Amino acid sequence: MRSHDRKQVIVLPSLRRVSSKMQQLILLVLLASFWTTCTKAGDWCYQSQFACDHQCNEPANWNHAHSDCEGRYQSPINVVTRKTLKDERLTPFQFSNYQQIFKSTIKNNGHSVQVGVPNLSIISDGGLPGGYKAVQFHLHWGNNGGPGSEHTIDGEQYPMELHIVHMKQHYTDLTTALSDPEGVAVLGFFYERSTSANRKYEPIIKALQNIKAANGNTSLNSISLAQLIPPEKNLTTYYRYKGSLTTPGCTEAVIWTLFENPIPLSMEQLRAFSELKFPNGKQMVGTFRPVQPLNGRQVSRSGGAVILLSSALLVAAIATAFGLPQVN
Ligand SMILES: *[C@@H]1O[C@H](CO)[C@@H](O)[C@H](O)[C@H]1NC(C)=O
Ligand SMILES: *[C@@H]1O[C@H](CO)[C@@H](O)[C@H](O)[C@H]1NC(C)=O
Ligand SMILES: *[C@@H]1O[C@H](CO)[C@@H](O)[C@H](O)[C@H]1NC(C)=O
Ligand SMILES: [Zn+2]
Repeated sequence: MRSHDRKQVIVLPSLRRVSSKMQQLILLVLLASFWTTCTKAGDWCYQSQFACDHQCNEPANWNHAHSDCEGRYQSPINVVTRKTLKDERLTPFQFSNYQQIFKSTIKNNGHSVQVGVPNLSIISDGGLPGGYKAVQFHLHWGNNGGPGSEHTIDGEQYPMELHIVHMKQHYTDLTTALSDPEGVAVLGFFYERSTSANRKYEPIIKALQNIKAANGNTSLNSISLAQLIPPEKNLTTYYRYKGSLTTPGCTEAVIWTLFENPIPLSMEQLRAFSELKFPNGKQMVGTFRPVQPLNGRQVSRSGGAVILLSSALLVAAIATAFGLPQVN
């Protein structure tokens, strides 16, 4: 609206010489064109996709069509590690059937690449109020391996972020789960560039070739959730906070877990994601929402067990050094 007002001020003086009918007509045309270019509400899009001639809402305007996107407890966030609070209740997760090999469809849904997961993989413990079953996973990335994660750690943006979306076990669909403030649990994993390719990601990287166009899909014949994430022993250190979906509707019903240990992918593997296309034919890059204000939320961290273990070792080391009797 502000740019439109400014234009009017510039245009009007030069119109004085034109007939008033003509003047009205020109104004109407100008008005109409301004309304249809930048002010019309459309589907949502990422900043990278936004252009005045494409009628989509960029992240700052997601709230136009989805009021929850301006809520107080939104995601993603920047985690300031020195402000996190260690919580002993954040125990290691139990991953059931994460090794299970399944068949699925991988799809370019116009905003990301998404894979449906059969409902048999379940997570529990990890400070969660019960069991949550996996529903789907998808990714967020940058431009050709550049910064692209949604969450950032001490301001660092990783090249990509994996979201494995789970819902409380007794729900049958995500919509119902999202009406429960703790209905959804998302496990977030960061990626880091490595010098060698990650073989376990080859089925997904290969499949990307067949789904470059928006709404394209292809089958994924044998994959497990376990093969996509670091080994279980590397998943005991994580951050926890309560937030929202990072895409519209932005529903505030998500218990977030962000694992510290990143997943290695080669530059070539990371780049393969940038070959996908948005519905407008542009390169699908920068598929992340900017970080949102914490608004007083406390971010917790796990690691109680690790600290306990290291202090136990320290006590043992001191006891050995001083020849004291060891207490178990
Ligand atoms: C998984 O879904 C099937 C059918 O959709 C249902 O019969 C079964 O109870 C579900 N299992 C779990 C663990 O939710
Ligand atoms: C995959 O694409 C085919 C053909 O375009 C379509 O019929 C099918 O419904 C799609 N499947 C999914 C899961 O989107
Ligand atoms: C697991 O953690 C260890 C120690 O931090 C690290 O050296 C190793 O590379 C990790 N493994 C994976 C697959 O991330
Ligand atoms: Zn996501």
